[in-house]
Amino acid sequence: MDERLRVGVIGCGRIGQVHLETLVRLDNVNVVGVVDVVEETAKKIAEKYAISSFSKDPLDIFDGDPKCDAVWICTPTFMHVPLIKQAAERGIHVFCEKPLALSVAECNEAIEAVKQTKIQLMMGFQRRFDHGWALLKSKLNSGELGELCTIGMVSRDPEPAPESYLLNSGGIWIDMAIHDLDAIRFLMGKECISIYAQGAILNADTKQRFQNANDVDTTMALLTFEDNKLATLNIARKGSCYDQRCEVTGTQGVAKLDNVRPDSVNVEVFGNCNYMNLPMHAFMERYKRAYARESEIFVDCLLNKKRVPTNANDGKQAFRLALAASMSMKENRIVRMSEIEN
Ligand SMILES: NC(=O)c1ccc[n+]([C@@H]2O[C@H](COP(=O)([O-])OP(=O)(O)OC[C@H]3O[C@@H](n4cnc5c(N)ncnc54)[C@H](O)[C@@H]3O)[C@@H](O)[C@H]2O)c1
Repeated sequence: MDERLRVGVIGCGRIGQVHLETLVRLDNVNVVGVVDVVEETAKKIAEKYAISSFSKDPLDIFDGDPKCDAVWICTPTFMHVPLIKQAAERGIHVFCEKPLALSVAECNEAIEAVKQTKIQLMMGFQRRFDHGWALLKSKLNSGELGELCTIGMVSRDPEPAPESYLLNSGGIWIDMAIHDLDAIRFLMGKECISIYAQGAILNADTKQRFQNANDVDTTMALLTFEDNKLATLNIARKGSCYDQRCEVTGTQGVAKLDNVRPDSVNVEVFGNCNYMNLPMHAFMERYKRAYARESEIFVDCLLNKKRVPTNANDGKQAFRLALAASMSMKENRIVRMSEIEN
């Protein structure tokens, strides 16, 4: 009998393909089908990964033969919760890309669907499964830094996404900085009390696309957590590379997470400072191992009946932080988390 987990992937764009790369090489997984609203895309991806079935309709994967045990939801964000509900009704487990939803009400619908049907839902917050971030967390847990005081994070994309993506993304906080907000919550191990954020469009060459999407390309925030712990976030859609750094101060030390570079040797040629071992340029390269690991962990949780490490509530709490930061930026004031629907 085939005891592999039967899985499907819905949404075959950038991140859907990242997950497929992992799923097709896992011995304990059988990818039974892929879905994309653009049928041609679904067909092309099915051919590329030698998957026997493709469709433009998620119902074909939910109600298909063989039945699916789990789906990876990799569509644009507005489709996440409708698809989660359809999967849950059929007892199909869900790996959901971030953000969980575009409203707290929808996050609650997802949480309720999971609770009612007892499926497992794992959120795709890949940083938690990255070696560097996990090591930083373990240093905090070990107590060698003393008591945690502050966290400072920098997060910059190399290039802004196209306008078509920005229009459906939910804005810089909900779409992009949600990873940083989840990482801060993960490192702090506490909940946030208030946020003050400011934002602006600072790159002339892509100004129009951010104006059209009613969004900003740069934002910074100060967050206050329980027990007066503080965090800062420095976010931009355009940087020199995929720039992801973090500094944590404790009462007895400081820990710094730097960018990952392709080489472990840095060469500086006299008179040519341009030849450098630059940090990785794109999220797919930087978090390649972490993306693989999160899918491997989800599969292991399902096959061996373990609880998933990032659940729908993590998705909701990161979303609430993003909502508070967006509100603070718009209204130019400190927003307390108690103001945000729960
Ligand atoms: N974890 C991460 O680092 C990360 C990185 C990128 C994107 N994401 C998230 O993944 C999701 C997808 O982003 P992307 O960059 O891959 O987008 P994308 O536009 O590259 O791909 C989305 C795909 O979904 C398809 N699609 C649209 N509506 C659909 C529907 N109703 N049913 C089936 N397919 C549908 C599109 O045709 C497209 O092929 C977003 O929620 C985004 O926030 C997460």
